Amino acid sequence: MKKILFVTSEVYPLIKTGGLADVSNSLPKSLADTGQDVKIILPNYRALKLTRNVQLRSVFKIGSHSVQLLETQLPDSNVTVWLVDCPEYFGMAGNPYVDSAGHSYANNPERFALFCRAVIEVAMNRADLDWKADVVHCNDWQTGLIPALLSLENELCPKTVFTIHNMAYQGFFNGLTAARLQLPIELLSSDGLEFYGGISFIKGGIAYADKITTVSPTYAHDIQTPELGYGLEGLLIYRNDDLTGIINGIDDDWNPETDMLIPKRFNVNSFQDKSINKTALQTRLNLPIDGNVLVLSLISRLVEQKGIDMLLDCLPDLLSLPVQIVILGSGEKSFEHGLQQLAAVYPDKMALTLGYDEALAHLIEAGADVFLMPSRFEPCGLNQMYSQRYGTLPVVRKTGGLTDTVVDTLPDTLANRTATGFVFSEENAGALLETIKRALLLYGFPEAWKQVQTNAMNCDFSWKRSAAQYLELYENID
Ligand code: ADP
Ligand code: GLC
Repeated sequence: MKKILFVTSEVYPLIKTGGLADVSNSLPKSLADTGQDVKIILPNYRALKLTRNVQLRSVFKIGSHSVQLLETQLPDSNVTVWLVDCPEYFGMAGNPYVDSAGHSYANNPERFALFCRAVIEVAMNRADLDWKADVVHCNDWQTGLIPALLSLENELCPKTVFTIHNMAYQGFFNGLTAARLQLPIELLSSDGLEFYGGISFIKGGIAYADKITTVSPTYAHDIQTPELGYGLEGLLIYRNDDLTGIINGIDDDWNPETDMLIPKRFNVNSFQDKSINKTALQTRLNLPIDGNVLVLSLISRLVEQKGIDMLLDCLPDLLSLPVQIVILGSGEKSFEHGLQQLAAVYPDKMALTLGYDEALAHLIEAGADVFLMPSRFEPCGLNQMYSQRYGTLPVVRKTGGLTDTVVDTLPDTLANRTATGFVFSEENAGALLETIKRALLLYGFPEAWKQVQTNAMNCDFSWKRSAAQYLELYENID
């Protein structure tokens, strides 16, 4: 049994801005199911949705700050969650990283440096918890200082794994900010945290962790190129022997057979019942009720990564086809406005919901026919897997985890029953539109469509397999 400290800046259902929160819920639970002793640790943001008992476990100092360590459990599981409480840093309402105008909090470097330092105290069993980690599993830049700081501890320090969920967010701060953090000078060399005259938190994870993972094999390759390595491709190539891609799984919350958030549950033997969810979706969003029209969908952060600009460019042409489109998301204001303008012009064909809505996300997965993910890059992506489980065929760009999880519908993949969606390569609106037209064409052949739905619904994206790969990794760190 390994003692694993899983360090993250968000965990579903306590707080979520994206897929990291889903992974931070499912992976620890799956590891605990294999008998490991897993503790999750995250900041005690004011916005946390806590439903279980919270206890004070310890109080300690990080510099001049007094930190309380609180303990609770993940809802619906026995996995312990430790919360690093420091109200002057985590006491603001709202998003963990940005203010209501979408700007990063000015003191993010201090906030996450304090979090990392607190995690070191816990990992090293200096926080009165009588628990010492064997492995500290860090996720994304907010935790990147941990492997760096642990490298200065004695030989008995835990092993470290650093998982990159997104190279585009690096935690880069200029030299003046870096000085404010008063990090040990040994860490500030060009082999260490230094990056273009400032410091990079993510580089701390990449340079110092014993093992580095990212969330799909293709993305592990992609980040070793200048296009998606953002200046760290050289270091990633250097660390190539310690870098692996482990595809995310999906949680059982996303299962059409048991989903309590959808009007009619269904499985691969009853997926005619999916049409009841389609009607419910059209009703809920005030779209004309029509079982035969192809319903396209998208649920996403509305940011450049997700190819929203490509979708906006082809929407006027797309809306001249016999389709409806349902969009749920929030993000950059320019994308929100562009979508709002089109939705106002085509109220009978396009339903836009701006904001975050978990229940609607489930209804969309259950009721739509096609899910769009035209991402410019995608470390893993979860919705293309959720979609397949709900028989909602994904249209995806061939990048990162989308490459690894969707099989394009072509004559041979149709014949050998491996086709699960539609894939395009070029990064432009025309390619997206052409691929949607391919889906529309196949939709006219109900038997073939059903076959691809069946293939998709039968895919195994369970966490069990991925958790076993992480466990093997933990066990093989020398
Ligand atoms: P990323 O982490 O890059 O945003 P993922 O595909 O890994 O992308 O995960 C996104 C997660 O966030 C999915 O669970 C998706 O359903 C959810 N999500 C994104 N936007 C919304 C929204 N507006 N409402 C509800 N869920 C959303
Ligand atoms: C990131 C990536 C996404 C991935 C998620 C969970 O947010 O953008 O592709 O699925 O992390 O690993």
